[in-house]
Amino acid sequence: MLELQDVSFTIQKDGEAVNLVDKASVKIPRGHFMAIVGPSGCGKTTLLRTIAGLNPESAGALFWDGRNLSEDGDLDPSEIGYVPQFSIAYDPLTVDESVEASTRLRVKVRDMEELDQRIDRVLDETGLAAIADRQVKVLSGGQKRRLGLAMELVSDPKLLLCDEVTSGLDPRSEREIVRLLHDLSRREGRIVLSVTHSLAHLELYDSILVLHEGRVAYHGPPELMTHYFSVSDTEEVYPKLATQTSERWQGSWLKHRESYYGKLEKNRKVLLDSGSLHLPVVREVDESAEAAAGESKVGTPGFFTQFTTLLSRRWRIFFRDRGQVFLQLAILLCFPVLVTLFSENAKGQIANLSDTRQESIVEEIQERQTVKRDQVRVGSAISGIIMFQVILLSLMASNNSAREIAGERQIFEKEKFGGVRPGAYIASKVTFLACLVLAQSLWMAVFVNLFAPFRGGAGGFESHVLFLLLVNGGMTAVCLGISALMRTAEQASLLSIYLVGFQLPLSGAVLALPVAVESFTRPFISAYWAWSGSVSALEPKVLNAVKSVIDTSLSSRQACIYILGFHVAAGLIAAWIGTRRHQWD
Ligand SMILES: Nc1ncnc2c1ncn2[C@@H]1O[C@H](COP(=O)(O)OP(=O)(O)O)[C@@H](O)[C@H]1O
Ligand SMILES: [Mg+2]
Repeated sequence: MLELQDVSFTIQKDGEAVNLVDKASVKIPRGHFMAIVGPSGCGKTTLLRTIAGLNPESAGALFWDGRNLSEDGDLDPSEIGYVPQFSIAYDPLTVDESVEASTRLRVKVRDMEELDQRIDRVLDETGLAAIADRQVKVLSGGQKRRLGLAMELVSDPKLLLCDEVTSGLDPRSEREIVRLLHDLSRREGRIVLSVTHSLAHLELYDSILVLHEGRVAYHGPPELMTHYFSVSDTEEVYPKLATQTSERWQGSWLKHRESYYGKLEKNRKVLLDSGSLHLPVVREVDESAEAAAGESKVGTPGFFTQFTTLLSRRWRIFFRDRGQVFLQLAILLCFPVLVTLFSENAKGQIANLSDTRQESIVEEIQERQTVKRDQVRVGSAISGIIMFQVILLSLMASNNSAREIAGERQIFEKEKFGGVRPGAYIASKVTFLACLVLAQSLWMAVFVNLFAPFRGGAGGFESHVLFLLLVNGGMTAVCLGISALMRTAEQASLLSIYLVGFQLPLSGAVLALPVAVESFTRPFISAYWAWSGSVSALEPKVLNAVKSVIDTSLSSRQACIYILGFHVAAGLIAAWIGTRRHQWD
């Protein structure tokens, strides 16, 4: 039994408390199918989210089998299925793959056999078995809703909450879905609550809850609704609601409630006697019953299982998206080619000053000029090439991760509610992105080195590779953090692009900055640290050539490594904070 006692959900609007749900009191027995109806904006979604525990109630209490959910802990993620208004499946995956991922993420299965059994069972229950290998993007509206249900049913939830799962469907599909929900409530004593603004097919529900401005205006059998509102057709209920205030509707409902609950009780007895409603045998509450309940509970899988499931799903989505693969490959292969266009000057020799003094002062000046000219030519080319590599890797970084979390935020929030650990999610993202970063940075270093060999001292090239990895890794981590903190993928992309755009002018490699600006901005400019670190690894003569063309001071290798390492860490911490934060609207 699910019971709401005077449950309210209050928000502050313009300094005033507004009750989006106001003292809702409802009792819902096991194996019950209830509709929550009401005009748009009356608080149906808010009520459903309050029941789910997504909106903590501001007043009142919720009970599950007599257990106070706020005091004794919420239902386990596996015990609640919540089908939101939006699609929770990835378009490139098939129906079967979506359900499989959902099962692996939410249910601790003993072996592959149990996994397959669960998948097959929900595909059968939801009528999706015949189209199991179809991609989500080609499914019809009704099939997508079925898939959303299937993905929730994998854990055998005792409470299934559905938000507008029939809206936007044609009448036939709508009826099929309502029928499916009805059937799902007839097994294992499952409670199914379905929010809808449609007043069609109400006869399939056990009870209808009419909500008006957050208040319960009616909760009783569908066949008595027109009688209660004194209208001849259910379609007239909403206009009728508008004829008096919600306080009055609530007041009159509280007066008549008992007789309608009596009728609900009678209907239920008929169902039970006729055998069309099956309830699981409930033993007397004692310790053995509680132990048995504990055993039958579906556990949440461990960190590692969730991590591998999320990671393999990420790679699958990546490879299914041809455009994405093509773009990544094009960037990976073409960006280093761009850099090598500037390789000619970088290979040039730098003349040496001779040890002996020249005979005439003219010759001496000429020699110095030659050396200076060589230094400017080679120094600018080498400094420029390193900076170009660094900037292009920063650009790749923002392309890698700016949309990574923000682009799938709703799905992630939904999965988090279903028991997915933020840590496993972040770990899967980091592993996936680390592969991209490795491929991009190594290929950049190696390819450019073929055409414009890095003129480093001992261990110089290895240092250069390390800095390219660090700048790409640091910017990828920072953009991942931005992605986790921003509300939309567009915001995250824009901010990441700005961040990359400011790298070059603020790095000091092109133009020296005023000291006051420099000391403030430098710590944040990954490009400076990677460039400075790489330049410092050049052999002395080339290093001098570079120094002769720049006005910006270089930092020690150690400092560069620490600061870039700090960027990686800061990005990951931001991503961690962002994914833990509740962000579901
Ligand atoms: N977190 C919130 N903050 C402010 N207003 C909200 C919030 N959640 C919902 N609302 C407002 O509360 C009202 C009820 O919303 P909702 O429950 O989504 O309605 P329904 O699902 O019945 O259409 C709407 O006017 C909506 O704008
Ligand atoms: Mg809604």
